[in-house]
Amino acid sequence: MTISAKIEVLYAKLKELNAETKFASLFQVDEVRDQVEKELKEQGEEGKYSQYLKHSNQQAKIIDIMLKHGLILKEQPTPKMPYVYVEFGAGRAGLSSYVALKLLELGNKENVFIAIDRDARKFKLDKDYKDHMLSYRERMDIADFDLRKFIGCKEVEIKSDHKIIAIAKHLCGGATDLALTSMKLQDPSHSLGVTIATCCHHCCDAKTYVNLPYLLEHFTSEEITVLPRFSSWAVSPQVSAPKQRLGFKTKRILDFGRCKYIEEVLKMDVTPYQYCDAFKESPESTLLVATVRQ
Ligand SMILES: C[S@@+](CC[C@H](N)C(=O)[O-])C[C@H]1O[C@@H](n2cnc3c(N)ncnc32)[C@H](O)[C@@H]1O
Repeated sequence: MTISAKIEVLYAKLKELNAETKFASLFQVDEVRDQVEKELKEQGEEGKYSQYLKHSNQQAKIIDIMLKHGLILKEQPTPKMPYVYVEFGAGRAGLSSYVALKLLELGNKENVFIAIDRDARKFKLDKDYKDHMLSYRERMDIADFDLRKFIGCKEVEIKSDHKIIAIAKHLCGGATDLALTSMKLQDPSHSLGVTIATCCHHCCDAKTYVNLPYLLEHFTSEEITVLPRFSSWAVSPQVSAPKQRLGFKTKRILDFGRCKYIEEVLKMDVTPYQYCDAFKESPESTLLVATVRQ
């Protein structure tokens, strides 16, 4: 069987098995693409939002979901316990700034923000909150960033009873896996949750992907080395609609493996969302939200 055929078969099987579960939203590629193709035909490019609205809307939707899962608290818990928001692949720290501004609006001020990105950025949004909350920015690769050591070195500023929440918006390929691995390396008593919008699955690789055993149940090692490349079809305007759909199905298969890892290894309850409008806002519309089991 070709890899494309294997992707189709596995996707169809996962869709059927998860039809009645919280993972069902991961397996609605055909339904979403039908809608996107219909909107494109009716509205064309004009129906799309401006860049600014696209991003602000996505961030606002992530904030609502975090509130729902208790990853943003309406007030400081008693006894005081700072939440440490670690934004992986932060770029300008747009998501951190939204989380921080929401916390400030709610009057919950004793939180900590850490933004990590390997690239330098202009027009950083850390300025929106750094005068109000403890914040750090580290310019380095996530692979080289030891979060546990970093927090350990800041023990005077960051109280010992803190809780860590990994956040990210559109964290490219293997960087999402590096962030999840970083959560695995934390003292479990300090881990609280994860909110990651995944993206660029074509950059995933066998070296960093967190759930190789799951992929190996369905693909050979040789197939796994090329599997992520199929996902690049999802966002390529040059390919046919059926190939685009196969690209999205590959993304969902990779994200489902991550969900299983979060449940089995991080011991968190995970819920995947299609958090934004795949036509107007972003085709990279999957958000993985997880919280530790009580
Ligand atoms: C698609 S951008 C998203 C930026 C920002 N989160 C946003 O929503 O605008 C992905 C970001 O992740 C960063 N990144 C990707 N892989 C990384 C890695 N291994 N270590 C650190 N940063 C990484 C890139 O430099 C880039 O800024």
